[in-house]
Amino acid sequence: MIEIVPETPALHADAIEDLFDRTFGPGHFAKTAERLREYSASLPAINRVAVDGGKVIGVCRVWPLVVGEARARALFFGPVAVDPAYRGQFLSLRITEAALDAGKAAGWPAAILIGAHRLFGKAGFVVAPKHSLIFPGPQDQGRVMVRDLAGDAAQLEGLVTAP
Ligand SMILES: CC(C)(COP(=O)(O)OP(=O)(O)OC[C@H]1O[C@@H](n2cnc3c(N)ncnc32)[C@H](O)[C@@H]1OP(=O)(O)O)[C@@H](O)C(=O)NCCC(=O)NCCS
Repeated sequence: MIEIVPETPALHADAIEDLFDRTFGPGHFAKTAERLREYSASLPAINRVAVDGGKVIGVCRVWPLVVGEARARALFFGPVAVDPAYRGQFLSLRITEAALDAGKAAGWPAAILIGAHRLFGKAGFVVAPKHSLIFPGPQDQGRVMVRDLAGDAAQLEGLVTAP
């Protein structure tokens, strides 16, 4: 049976890294999103992991960021990954939605995600207005999405940085 649970690093962290190695290509660590994650720290209590009989089969990690001169707080969602053997059942959305609920319950105002709108639009993400969010590196603006949590994501504007 598949369960979606918060990350317990001692139990899940090595298996999550292994899943990233298997699902993302070698260019993964060159991405602009990784530059932000490098200087932030993910939040295990809000991260969500899908496990099947104790085996990690999917994950969504989240990272605190600040946006613009106002230093508006936001949660950065990703990487999201699902074991190839478990694809085809929108498991990524169930995991992401569980992390969104946890972020909202913890009072985070807004979520940012870089990815495919065709998929993550189904979890309520909308493409951010072009150049409203500026990343510390090259970024396809059509893949930058935001979503309200406990506040208003439309307020987010400016340079996105680690807190
Ligand atoms: C992206 C990923 C998490 C989706 O896993 P999943 O929830 O099992 O997805 P499914 O196989 O159930 O597909 C669900 C839908 O999303 C679409 N989809 C899947 N991956 C997609 C992608 N990278 N871009 C656009 N659409 C995608 C599928 O075509 C399907 O849509 P359809 O029913 O209209 O055809 C998984 O493919 C993965 O781990 N990929 C490698 C890591 C990655 O690229 N993560 C996303 C960026 S953070």
